[in-house]
Amino acid sequence: MKDEDGHKGHCCGGVSRRGFLSSVGAGAVLAAAGLPAVPVAAEQPADPAELVRVTLRINGRAHRLLVEPRWSLLFVLRERLVLTGTKVGCERGECGACTVLVDGLPRYACLTLAVEAQGHEVTTIEGLLRGEELGVVQQAFLEEDAFQCGFCTPGQIMAAEGLLRANPDPTVAEIRAAMAGNLCRCGAYAHIVKAVRRAAAARREVGHG
Ligand code: FES
Ligand code: FES
Repeated sequence: MKDEDGHKGHCCGGVSRRGFLSSVGAGAVLAAAGLPAVPVAAEQPADPAELVRVTLRINGRAHRLLVEPRWSLLFVLRERLVLTGTKVGCERGECGACTVLVDGLPRYACLTLAVEAQGHEVTTIEGLLRGEELGVVQQAFLEEDAFQCGFCTPGQIMAAEGLLRANPDPTVAEIRAAMAGNLCRCGAYAHIVKAVRRAAAARREVGHG
């Protein structure tokens, strides 16, 4: 996927969210085949014998769950843990609406199997809140009016959060490159870049950069 400037969908550190999948297993095979990794709605109930017990660390909390091996992290976040801030878009690694952080790096939750997330720290948009207050990146998106319908916004914010953790003072070109895997149908890109720059400055002010 490329953005309007032709940048490819790389995340911070030069590792693409799709590239990561080649190292983590079955989700990558389905992605490469152009198939949705796992349907968000599990159409048929699983044979209980096929369920796998996993412990997922999400937003600093451990969740013990029984999952089907084919369930995506996106499905488990939304349908089992009711963390619905992470959005369902294309379900095939093209839009970025489902972006979360895995060990601090942006990943597509639709292309990550829940079982693959075990042993890793997952952060969702809900995990950026500071108590009742918005996180720094969330606040910057609000102040820069960096959304219209808001559907892509959680994914955009998570991609920005991942970028700023790796690169506290990115250039505009670096922001565009890092965010290229997140599409906005409303075309709010100019404001999104401004929001990321504002968030970078705010993070540096509070000592995160
Ligand atoms: S829903 Fe995951 S990339 Fe579109
Ligand atoms: S704000 Fe509507 S899709 Fe981005």
